[in-house]
Amino acid sequence: MKLIVTNHSNSALDLRIIPVIEDFFQEIMKEKLPDLTLSTAIFSGKKDSTYLFQQEDTLILLVGLGKSPESESIEKSFRRILSKQADLITIAVKIDFAQAFNAIQVEAALVGFQLGGYSLDFFKRAEDKKKDFSKLSCEVSSVLENLELIMTRAHEIAKAKIEAFRLVDLPPNVLTPEYLSNWATKLSETLDLKVTVFDSKKAKEEGLEAFLAVGRGSAKEPKFIILNYTHPEAKFHLGLVGKGVTFDTGGLNVKTQGMVHMKSDMGGAATVLAATQLIAALKLPINLTTIVPAVENAIDKDAYLPSEVIQSHAGLSIEVIDTDAEGRLILADGLSYLVKNYNPDQIIDFATLTGSSVGTFGYECGALFSNSEKLGLQLQTAGMESGEKVWPLPMWESYRKEMDSEIADIKNYHGKPIAGAITAAKFLEAFIHEHPNWAHLDIAGVAYGDSEFSKTKTGTAFGVQLLLKFIENQL
Ligand code: BES
Ligand code: ZN
Ligand code: ZN
Repeated sequence: MKLIVTNHSNSALDLRIIPVIEDFFQEIMKEKLPDLTLSTAIFSGKKDSTYLFQQEDTLILLVGLGKSPESESIEKSFRRILSKQADLITIAVKIDFAQAFNAIQVEAALVGFQLGGYSLDFFKRAEDKKKDFSKLSCEVSSVLENLELIMTRAHEIAKAKIEAFRLVDLPPNVLTPEYLSNWATKLSETLDLKVTVFDSKKAKEEGLEAFLAVGRGSAKEPKFIILNYTHPEAKFHLGLVGKGVTFDTGGLNVKTQGMVHMKSDMGGAATVLAATQLIAALKLPINLTTIVPAVENAIDKDAYLPSEVIQSHAGLSIEVIDTDAEGRLILADGLSYLVKNYNPDQIIDFATLTGSSVGTFGYECGALFSNSEKLGLQLQTAGMESGEKVWPLPMWESYRKEMDSEIADIKNYHGKPIAGAITAAKFLEAFIHEHPNWAHLDIAGVAYGDSEFSKTKTGTAFGVQLLLKFIENQL
């Protein structure tokens, strides 16, 4: 979709969208529709309300946003327009912001509007596909001085979020580890990024044994993906790691529940890859290293066995109690490799790691673990501001002994139905070489889920806007 600045009233418009904040209802109506008399009983800007009418050749859609709307809810209201009222638009549309709207609100509306064009119908025949809005031009009018900049940002944010949706929503026969590595390679050709991909042979040379163990039972070649972005005026160096399990059968500890949803087990990878795209597109002044260990957890004669003892990049031997606790194994190597080779100032990993985190928080927020109080608070704050909430759980040393193994340095599962998310975080902590600024976000409950925009569960792009806020709060 193309966003165009306009400050005059246009002729060939299908639809003029006027967002209305309830607290500014009178002012906005006077500013945008001075000749209209409209009873507040019909429309007054209440959240989730709309009012559609015709004025000459143009349809006018008033979108009620409520009293003092947060960006998350503005985004949702605007996503509804293309997603649910696609028939209103054929050629051109204008979003007409009144003076009451600030930059954050305009950005959220423009992001949401573009997300509305996203559809899951990748594999449907052409005649059954949803309308394609990629060529639509959307005029934007607002008195804000930096409107042009806001529009560019909104465009890039929406593009990154749609990419994260797509990566999660594509099925696992298409979205394989190789697909992710090709994706990263393509990204490095369009943006100023360097990509490195290890196949299994190179991963073996690098000692990524835990990562390789998980991939052993799959016909699909594992890929260890590294993206580097640098900026000449970088304020700090951020390291990201995303769990890239393109399908999680559970391995020989095969899943008996919910396996059908496990194409989403690369949700962490989708988050960090889309965030990398966004950071590079916006040319944010940081250095960034992003690592995605991409692998399928499947079953064949070579599949790793429960009770195997495997090695790891960090040099710790690991007793595999459960092959379904595979995410922590690939992250262990991802984190260790990141610290040893790049040593960034801050490290954040995103992973759909445990059902336990879903049991604790449901679908409301991600579980946050950090060995740095400051970093934890920064992420918690960015989460509240972006609407992608994360909430802390403790990392007390007493949990660490749960992961002690008799035969190896550590085991991947304590074998108990308690504190699953916390013990997983303690496992990861063993592989960060005592890096002082590390945070782990368990996003199993929020990376993929039900929403009003689709009949089935879909990717949410959780974490992309949280990361953007987190970075910009530090610039
Ligand atoms: N990918 C799953 C976690 C998951 C569960 C993600 C639900 C999204 C929704 C992970 O690899 C897993 O299987 N975890 C096990 C760990 C257990 C065997 C220690 C779990 O949480 O049950
Ligand atoms: Zn698993
Ligand atoms: Zn998994």
